[in-house]
Amino acid sequence: MAGAGDLQELGQAEGALGGALGERAIDVRGLRMRYGSKCVLNGVDFGVRRGEVLALLGPNGAGKTTIIEIMEGFRTCSAGEVSVLGVDPARGDERWRARLGIVLQSWRDHGKWKVRELLAQLGDFYRPYSTAERPRPRNVDELIAMVGLEQQADQRIASLSGGQRRRLDVAIGIVGRPEVLFLDEPTVGFDPKARRDFHDVVHRLSDLEDTTILLTTHDLDEAEKLSDRILILAGGRIVADGSADQLARETEGKAEVRWSVGGEHYVHAAPDAGVFVHELFKQHGDRVRDLEVRRASLEDTYMAMVRQHEAGRSEEAIAAFREAGK
Ligand SMILES: Nc1ncnc2c1ncn2[C@@H]1O[C@H](COP(=O)(O)OP(=O)(O)OP(=O)(O)O)[C@@H](O)[C@H]1O
Ligand SMILES: [Mg+2]
Repeated sequence: MAGAGDLQELGQAEGALGGALGERAIDVRGLRMRYGSKCVLNGVDFGVRRGEVLALLGPNGAGKTTIIEIMEGFRTCSAGEVSVLGVDPARGDERWRARLGIVLQSWRDHGKWKVRELLAQLGDFYRPYSTAERPRPRNVDELIAMVGLEQQADQRIASLSGGQRRRLDVAIGIVGRPEVLFLDEPTVGFDPKARRDFHDVVHRLSDLEDTTILLTTHDLDEAEKLSDRILILAGGRIVADGSADQLARETEGKAEVRWSVGGEHYVHAAPDAGVFVHELFKQHGDRVRDLEVRRASLEDTYMAMVRQHEAGRSEEAIAAFREAGK
């Protein structure tokens, strides 16, 4: 990756100086990814501070899993600079990997193992990397209790229910007491109690262990509850970046205007709906149909950004969002 070495050096220098920028656990600049001729990420930039919980949102196929896999070193990006704990993931060694925790979107291995056995076995990988500050691995029984699998501790993994299996995935992700934790749709299949317990685990990891967490979810409510900051990925770019409060404030007072012209449907978040609608009629006259105007919520903002992207107008959406943030 071009310039990744520079970033690495920068991270180390900042770390040594203990400067504010050194607090960044993740840095992503100009990230691009192609699968064959298909461009999935088209210049993604963001940073994550140490101890921050970041929710990465975006529609199916937006590239969330791709970003996470690049940051874990499972995939090599086509272009850009990525630094996780000061290291380019493409060059990360075992020592670096031991400082990360990962919950993948899906994997189906280890069916014959029993829950406690597998966690103990995986935990052994982290033992050489134990420090006074971060004893590794986590105690297996405490871990099992953390994710609520006490009843299933001696059960074979192949026989776990979907939600139980997902709890185990979370346990596997945190057994090594990671400094940076990647969670790709961790709560899929969770019942309401498991979801709430999981939220407690995330708060505990972030508040008590200063864990940096990057998670993806399609549950906006969950994103709002868990994260310090939200990123929305659409059309290969980050189209919104801010705390749930900021995003809500920035869209406050903005109305969502929907309309169609010539059978094509549009949606736009307008700071002044009156002016916008006036312009709309000036431009299209009585070809404007299905006109609706209503105040926008955070969920609406998300939907609007994504729809605008899907209609091929993500540049316009980004500009409108920046304008609103001024
Ligand atoms: N190995 C691959 N080869 C070709 N295309 C791929 C590959 N992996 C992913 N893609 C494509 O890249 C795009 C982004 O996929 P990705 O899994 O990162 O999306 P996502 O945001 O995680 O979606 P979801 O919300 O469904 O999990 C999709 O269009 C997908 O089909
Ligand atoms: Mg995904």
